[in-house]
Amino acid sequence: MLKEIVIEENKGLKYLKDLFLLEKECFEEKAWEEAMLKEELEKPYSICLLAKKENILMGYLLGRVIMDEGELLRIAVKKAFRNKGIGSLLLKGFLERLKKLGIKKIFLEVEENNKRAYNLYTKFGFKPVNFRKEYYGNTSAVVMSCEI
Ligand SMILES: CC(C)(COP(=O)(O)OP(=O)(O)OC[C@H]1O[C@@H](n2cnc3c(N)ncnc32)[C@H](O)[C@@H]1OP(=O)(O)O)[C@@H](O)C(=O)NCCC(=O)NCCS
Repeated sequence: MLKEIVIEENKGLKYLKDLFLLEKECFEEKAWEEAMLKEELEKPYSICLLAKKENILMGYLLGRVIMDEGELLRIAVKKAFRNKGIGSLLLKGFLERLKKLGIKKIFLEVEENNKRAYNLYTKFGFKPVNFRKEYYGNTSAVVMSCEI
């Protein structure tokens, strides 16, 4: 199944509604609003990767480049398609894209209790570099970084 999935770089606003629904499913009350997604997608330095199979959106990644560093802002895969390697495909695609742009360092933030995401990042070489206490209200954030 993984072979049939295409990772497409696309900041097209025609996907805005789909991305918003995906956000709602994956992040629930912490989902980004449509307006926030639109604002980020419209920035010239944002990078959006879509995981698609026959035009069905399965997951997405949103990141950006600031000066000579990359930042991962969002990564989400629909519940029905998780644990099949799609999150890994998206992250791999992002790292490859950044490498081509000459970026050497990438940062991200993850909620301390989000084991799935933490494991995914660790698998790709991210290491914890900082801790932001109660960053998400009751829970804290781990800042991770990776050299590519
Ligand atoms: C995090 C997320 C994107 C992973 O997507 P995915 O397509 O399931 O990821 P993959 O199938 O590529 O799995 C990659 C790695 O993640 C880790 N992982 C995935 N599911 C896991 C689980 N249920 N428990 C623990 N680790 C898990 C493993 O390390 C796995 O690697 P492995 O299969 O070699 O062991 C997905 O769970 C998701 O959308 N979660 C909700 C949104 C979210 O929390 N985003 C991150 C915000 S910081």
